[in-house]
Amino acid sequence: MPAIDKYRLVRAAAKARQQAVAPYSKFKVGAALLTRSGRIFAGANVESASYGLTCCAERVALFNALTGGRRNFSAIAVVARARGGPMPCGACRQLLAEYAPNAVVWVADSGALRAVREFSVRELLPDAFLEVPSTAD
Ligand code: THU
Repeated sequence: MPAIDKYRLVRAAAKARQQAVAPYSKFKVGAALLTRSGRIFAGANVESASYGLTCCAERVALFNALTGGRRNFSAIAVVARARGGPMPCGACRQLLAEYAPNAVVWVADSGALRAVREFSVRELLPDAFLEVPSTAD
């Protein structure tokens, strides 16, 4: 993947972050998902007064892309004001393992968009649960 795509995707995540709805934590997160065909689907976190209903930026971006008919993803960028960039939570790691298993994950601090750390979905969630075993009764 050309380096230019990395920074473009990180910038898209930083832009999406501006639309975060985070009145409770004040922690704004943006995500941008790149399809294999080169399209970008973005999302930001949305919080609820019933805190547990909150949805992370990564999942908003992923659901946006999936319900836009996309199935093949090559990368996701996640941006927030966090040293070294925000690490996706366990729930988002699970969804990425299911729907974007081969995507590269880039994270960056919104205050240092050129310092991007890179992970694979597999290293973020090794040995993921991917389907209900056929032995279930
Ligand atoms: N959050 C994300 O959007 N992505 C992450 O990777 C970590 C956490 C959000 C959820 C909540 O709105 C806020 O950050 C604080 O947890």
